[in-house]
Amino acid sequence: MSAAPLSVLMVCLGNICRSPTAEAVLRQLVQQQRLAAQIAVDSAGTSDWHVGEAPDQRSIAAGQRRGYDLSVLRARQVQASDFHRFDYILAMDAQNLLALQRLSPPAPRAKLALLLDYSQRSSELREVPDPYSHNSAAFEQVLDLCEDACAGLLQHLQQLQPLSLPVSTSND
Ligand code: 4NP
Repeated sequence: MSAAPLSVLMVCLGNICRSPTAEAVLRQLVQQQRLAAQIAVDSAGTSDWHVGEAPDQRSIAAGQRRGYDLSVLRARQVQASDFHRFDYILAMDAQNLLALQRLSPPAPRAKLALLLDYSQRSSELREVPDPYSHNSAAFEQVLDLCEDACAGLLQHLQQLQPLSLPVSTSND
């Protein structure tokens, strides 16, 4: 884990569709705003079903169409130590939030919440629907929801604790 002052763990069931997508989207936003040294991003699953696997090909393809590289990510399961290593552990849906609450030690460092709590859209949707048994439109929806909520999350983090940009050098 990096020494970044803020850290976010995205969590779904398998860690091959939704949470790696959310990880890639937030990481790219963080990099675009030159905050990579300030905000560390990771993802994990509440199940061990796909540990060690690359993301689902449909997630990789959908991400690639929007400029996100998910192919380098590998699935892992949430560990007890994550509750002390991360500031935010954000679940994609209520079922995984409940699983996290059951796994959590009594006084975790991490705030547990739903990713869509940070959505900027006035939508009724509070969960990122599981796309695994659905068609490519479901994978596009995952990206739409993650892009919206990650932008809202980053705004929230900036308001909480104004994050300093690195001092610029000659040509950047
Ligand atoms: P994820 O999607 O939780 O967004 O990674 C799923 C991936 C795999 C399965 C279910 C959901 N599965 O049943 O194997």
